Amino acid sequence: LASTEVELGPIAEGQAITAMWRGKPVFVRRRTPQEIQEARAVPLGELRDPATDQSRTKPGKEQWLIVVGVCTHLGCVPLGQKPTDARGDFGGWFCPCHGSHYDTAGRVRRGPAPLNLAVPDYTFTSDTRIRVG
Ligand code: FES
Repeated sequence: LASTEVELGPIAEGQAITAMWRGKPVFVRRRTPQEIQEARAVPLGELRDPATDQSRTKPGKEQWLIVVGVCTHLGCVPLGQKPTDARGDFGGWFCPCHGSHYDTAGRVRRGPAPLNLAVPDYTFTSDTRIRVG
């Protein structure tokens, strides 16, 4: 499929779901205010792949973080989609293959991954629905 529609309504604050898009997992996470705050508080100089939190979400929809769920090191699927998963030292995702840690904006913070989790092209087709791709 060239594009994938995701219904956001059932996703509670602090939860995430995994959609499939072009054969890859896409993580759709509804962030808590605290997670957004933590992501914004990080000085860009501390980032290996500098990107503001704001540049990784849509204006007015900052609670929704949408990233491709493929580690930028060697392509494993990071853990962190379930609240019971290990989310790493920065509260986002943890890649168990070689120990990369991603923060609540999906930015790499530790480990061998060179880049942030990719943000796919997506648009809001309504307040509660997105189209990825
Ligand atoms: Fe994720 Fe190596 S594939 S750390």
